[in-house]
Amino acid sequence: MSSIRKIFDLKAGVIGTGFIGPVHIEALRRIGVQVTAICGSGQAREVATQWGIPHVFTGYDFAKLVAAPDVDVVHITSPNRHHHRQALAALAAGKHVVCEKPLAMTTTQTAEIVAAAKASGKVFAVNYNVRFYPAVLQMRAMAQSGALGEIIHVNGSYMQDWLHKDTDYNWRVLASESGELRAVGDIGTHWLDTVSFILGSPVVELIADLSIFHRTRKRPVGEVQTFSNTAPEKTENCTVDTEDFASVLLTFANGARGNLSVSQVAAGRKNSIRIEVYGSKKSAWWCSEDPEMLHFGNRDGANETTIRATAAFGSGATGFMDYPPGHVEGFPDTFKMNFRNIYSAIVKGTEERLFASVSDGHQEVALCEAILRSHKSRSWTSL
Ligand SMILES: NC(=O)c1ccc[n+]([C@@H]2O[C@H](COP(=O)([O-])OP(=O)(O)OC[C@H]3O[C@@H](n4cnc5c(N)ncnc54)[C@H](O)[C@@H]3O)[C@@H](O)[C@H]2O)c1
Repeated sequence: MSSIRKIFDLKAGVIGTGFIGPVHIEALRRIGVQVTAICGSGQAREVATQWGIPHVFTGYDFAKLVAAPDVDVVHITSPNRHHHRQALAALAAGKHVVCEKPLAMTTTQTAEIVAAAKASGKVFAVNYNVRFYPAVLQMRAMAQSGALGEIIHVNGSYMQDWLHKDTDYNWRVLASESGELRAVGDIGTHWLDTVSFILGSPVVELIADLSIFHRTRKRPVGEVQTFSNTAPEKTENCTVDTEDFASVLLTFANGARGNLSVSQVAAGRKNSIRIEVYGSKKSAWWCSEDPEMLHFGNRDGANETTIRATAAFGSGATGFMDYPPGHVEGFPDTFKMNFRNIYSAIVKGTEERLFASVSDGHQEVALCEAILRSHKSRSWTSL
């Protein structure tokens, strides 16, 4: 109970007030952390009013936010190209950091952040929130206890459709804003991070194929928020230099093989991450479109479909669920549980750290670079 009281004492500042900034604010409120400051464009004032946040730094003035005395933890939810500068500034100001994925644009940048974070002694987390779906925690417990047997292979996908039309536009489609990989960097790294987390084993080798479906997109004149459904009044053509979809074959350090498909042009799939883990004793599979259900596959006996927080589901997510079975926990709850784990680590130091570390964030950007190298060379590539 004492750590919970200390979590209440911590104060957060959030940089970025677009789609995911308010998701951070809401999750922080749910664990009792005060959000004392936000930073963004002029729109930040509206967000501050909506959430009752006292300090607003407009004009993207993150230097003022990281220096604010009543900010202990800085959440970075700005577009990818700003993460490097803002993370280094927050660490230099002596703050703990929760940075959105991907950690930065290149491994040169992420290595610099890793070194600064290690030297600072502060907690630095990267927001790979998918780790905190209860079904993911349960699959991890079973993979790592041997309940699934030797892991033979992992199959899955991350599919979205919000960039399906050539009139769909976001800063992510430009390599200069989001990094050289887009579908893989934006959502594929969630799958890769989650599967390595489940297996307790990193990817060591891969071969990848990347494709662009819309080589030209219609770019609205002005800023567009992620997942916006409003048709822009004026557009201009822009050349797209990042992939719309990708296929990747993987080898993990433990010998398991993997097979990942990623797409942001998959009509009807709004935000669908699917993970299937096949072991020598049994298999386990789950999809975020039906987040409460975890399935077990058996060679001889009947297959099982289990419901979160029941005995049949298993106890691997104990401590990371707040609601009884049938009271659905989903995307926003993963942020809450991730932040509870991060803030507990800040106040207790010794709490089991299940959140993605700064080194995990670096690893995902290294994977993106290896995927691009493999695609260009049309060959298997080691990390
Ligand atoms: N973990 C997840 O599930 C998840 C989901 C969505 C986005 N993200 C990540 O969050 C980040 C933001 O994505 P989004 O979808 O919210 O984008 P968005 O475009 O909706 O919002 C970005 C916000 O950052 C602000 N901004 C732009 N430049 C800035 C600067 N220099 N300093 C401060 N703020 C600035 C914009 O005004 C806007 O408010 C990205 O890194 C993305 O990969 C993570």
